[in-house]
Amino acid sequence: NTETPYHFTDKPEAEKRIKPRQKFSHKGTFGHAVLIAGSFGKMGAAVLSAKACLRSGVGLLTMHVPARGYEIAQISVPEAMTTVDDAEKHIGKVPDLSSATAIGIGPGLGQDAATAKMLEKVLEQAKVPIIIDADALNILSTNQHLLYKLPANTILTPHPKEFQRLAGESSNEFERLAIARAFAARYKVIICLKGANTAVILPNGEVHFNATGNPGMATGGTGDVLTGVITSLLAQKYDPADAAILGVYQHGLAGDRAAEARGQTALIASDVVEHLGW
Ligand code: APR
Ligand code: MG
Repeated sequence: NTETPYHFTDKPEAEKRIKPRQKFSHKGTFGHAVLIAGSFGKMGAAVLSAKACLRSGVGLLTMHVPARGYEIAQISVPEAMTTVDDAEKHIGKVPDLSSATAIGIGPGLGQDAATAKMLEKVLEQAKVPIIIDADALNILSTNQHLLYKLPANTILTPHPKEFQRLAGESSNEFERLAIARAFAARYKVIICLKGANTAVILPNGEVHFNATGNPGMATGGTGDVLTGVITSLLAQKYDPADAAILGVYQHGLAGDRAAEARGQTALIASDVVEHLGW
């Protein structure tokens, strides 16, 4: 495996990265995730991501949502704490990050100018690992100077369209992979290039293709679930490369279990959440 950068994440490869829970552990052992997500009409993305985060073993979770999202968050996710933004329909201020052990940002966020400013401040202030998804990626695409502010080993989880906006067109998947490897090396970030056989690309050029997942997962919200899973693993102090590789595997595995339980056609993102766990 030393001569090729290409790896394949199957069951043993994933499981060797799992850190077992110790008998005398407590909530504090498993970290505090802060999830910055949601805007008016897209609170479902925040809720799905939060539930997935909790189902992936985090000790504590705070959801930071727009003011109008308060009841939605508290009622939908009773296990999470909720802080609200001053703005009604979008997030414009950086939440309290003082006790965070990881930050997830992006699901359902929208692209308000104030939200873009908030993202920039999060990148400047954060002292813990970050995962960036969805509209937060789109904000990076339209404000490319922010790419230079990404802390090393930040995890980006673009679907093909988001990756194209971020890094440019490619005419085929080989070219896309080459662009992604160059991008990961240049900005020292981890890219999860989502799709069938999601590729996790590390700053050192390694590519880890994922074995799990199925087309039943091509339905709105499954990407938000992945963000929650990886945020959770980062909060639990998984090394970012392990969090990305293991999180992508676990997310696909939950999707496979969900498809087995009710078929690919009926599968919705909530089913993926319900089948998380190992
Ligand atoms: N096989 C395996 N896995 C798949 C397949 C497939 N054929 N199709 C999709 N998936 C998985 C992807 O690997 C990814 O983990 O489902 C997930 C889909 O994620 P997104 O494309 O981000 O979709 P989602 O976020 O749920 O879509 C909701 O949010 O990011 C925005 O622009 C996006 O409008 C969209 C919205
Ligand atoms: Mg998405």
